[in-house]
Amino acid sequence: MIKKITASSAETESLGKKIATILSGNETIALFGDLGAGKTAFTRGLCEGLGVTDGVSSPTFAIVNAYNGKYPVYHFDMYRITDADDLFSTGYYDYIGNGVIVIEWSENIESELESDAIRIRIQKNDDENKRLFEIEGLDEYADVIC
Ligand SMILES: Nc1ncnc2c1ncn2[C@@H]1O[C@H](COP(=O)(O)OP(=O)(O)OP(=O)(O)O)[C@@H](O)[C@H]1O
Ligand SMILES: [Mg+2]
Repeated sequence: MIKKITASSAETESLGKKIATILSGNETIALFGDLGAGKTAFTRGLCEGLGVTDGVSSPTFAIVNAYNGKYPVYHFDMYRITDADDLFSTGYYDYIGNGVIVIEWSENIESELESDAIRIRIQKNDDENKRLFEIEGLDEYADVIC
C-alpha cells in the first residue's frame, strides 16, 4: 500500500493527475472517504490528467457522469445506492472494463467491486487541509505517485 498526505485540494488534484499517467484505460478506481474527504477533487485531477475538458462534479443525482478524454471516464457517486437492484440499474456492470471507472462512496458497493480494483481510502484529520491517502493496488508505481 502507498500512503501519501496531501496538504491542499490542489495537491489532491495533482495526485489524481499523476495516477492518470499510469492508467491504461480499463481500470476501476474505488474511492472511500466521508463527505468532503476530497473524492471529487481527486477525480477532477485524474480527469484533467486524462485530458477531460468537461467540468467534473459529484454526480449525486445523476449517479454517473461520462466524460471523454484519452479514455472514456465513468464517474459514479454511489451515495444513494443502497441495494443490488439500484446498482444494476445504473449500468455499472456494463461500464466495468470499458473505460476508467471512478467511484465515489465505494463503501456502498464494496461487495460488488472487482478484486483488481484500485482502492483509495481518504481520511481527514485534525488539520483542516490535510488528507491521508492510502492507495492499494499501485505499489509498483510508487516512484511515479510519491
Ligand atoms: N488536502 C485536501 N484535499 C482535497 N480537498 C481538500 C483538501 N483540503 C481541503 N479540502 C477541501 O475539502 C473539500 C473536498 O471536497 P470534495 O467535493 O472533493 O469532497 P468529496 O469527498 O467528493 O465529498 P462528497 O462526498 O460530498 O462528494 C473541498 O472543499 C476542498 O477545498
Ligand atoms: Mg464528491
